Amino acid sequence: MRYEAASVDSEAMTGPVRASELTIVVPTYDERDNVTPLVELIGAALPGVDWEVIFVDDDSTDGTATLVRDMARRDPRVRCLQRIGRRGLSSACIEGVLASSSPFVAVMDADMQHDERLLPRMLEVLRREACDLVVGSRYIDGGGVGDWEGRRAGISGFATRLSRLVCKIDIADPMSGFFMARREVFEGSVRRLSGQGFKILLDLLASSPGQIRLRELPYQFRRRRHGTSKLDTLVAWEFGMLLADKLVGHLVPVRFALFAFIGAIGLGVHLAVLRAALSAPTLGFAAAQSIATLVAMTSNFFLNNLFTYRDQRLRGWRLLRGMLSFYLICAVGAVGNVGIAAYVFASDHVWWLAGISGAVLGSVWNYAVSSVFTWRRR
Ligand code: GDD
Ligand code: MN
Repeated sequence: MRYEAASVDSEAMTGPVRASELTIVVPTYDERDNVTPLVELIGAALPGVDWEVIFVDDDSTDGTATLVRDMARRDPRVRCLQRIGRRGLSSACIEGVLASSSPFVAVMDADMQHDERLLPRMLEVLRREACDLVVGSRYIDGGGVGDWEGRRAGISGFATRLSRLVCKIDIADPMSGFFMARREVFEGSVRRLSGQGFKILLDLLASSPGQIRLRELPYQFRRRRHGTSKLDTLVAWEFGMLLADKLVGHLVPVRFALFAFIGAIGLGVHLAVLRAALSAPTLGFAAAQSIATLVAMTSNFFLNNLFTYRDQRLRGWRLLRGMLSFYLICAVGAVGNVGIAAYVFASDHVWWLAGISGAVLGSVWNYAVSSVFTWRRR
């Protein structure tokens, strides 16, 4: 009797088994008109498969998340993960995968540029073959980029070659945003992923600890159905940072390297301005040096705002506030610089060692403090 009751109970707890085998993660930003047709296409492409789709929406302004939740009320295979105050295709995909539990996970765009008819074939490969990751590829036989104009095709080709540099693996289309993997592939490297920018696949390939068994299947990249592309110069910048991070990030943080490089340019600017100012007959050295310092600090500030911190670029009032804080931080840095240089010089009289010590201390200080106060993350 008790035994029966217990077994009934446990049945009630487990309920009918309907776990999805495949989770499709779709990052969205302003894709309202695309989500409904996309879900229909996925459904038509995967008859007999227990799938679910998770839209990871970064608080779109066009009501994408609301629409997805409306669909989810009618169709339990649809879910919405809404993130507020965040942006980024890669991190959206990672969080979508982490919010799921299916053994197989796919990533695809919302705009129907990725051919959903590839999904059942990708799944079949993962089910039957010793393969961890299936990539939808535009650059193998049978694949293509459709009617891209020459410029975009050229840029994409160049970026593709660059990224093959950082991949530990031979792949024709490392920039593909369309793939399916065993969940372990994610779990094995999720803590190492940079999660920045658009290049989630590249990130996965470059961060994986072991050898990933990979297959590429060709498909034709289609035209975006509705809405506009979110690929802009910031995305390109993030891509560059990701590559640099994978190449030299283990030696020195990429942001600091950029900051120091701009600092070196600043030194050049300083000397050029100083020389020019000294040629003015009425200016004394102290005045000329002050002008040069101000110009160099200002140019450093703008270059860093444009490049090092492109993803947190200051504008308007924030720009002014940021510039003032940067001056202040650099001023303190300069005092520290001179102090440490004088100290080193006094103790062993090697002028260049003293100079370098001061400069290194100054730039580390400027970098560390300005990253907190000038370009603090909002
Ligand atoms: N959650 C979220 N957050 N989603 C985003 C964001 C974001 O900040 N930015 C873009 N997305 C979503 C879009 O809504 C779309 O569903 C998908 O990511 C791809 O964005 P697109 O703007 O359509 O990118 P694309 O077509 O230019 O680039 C695609 O093709 C490239 C290859 O040329 C992407 O698939 C890239 O990953 C791919 O490398
Ligand atoms: Mn697109």
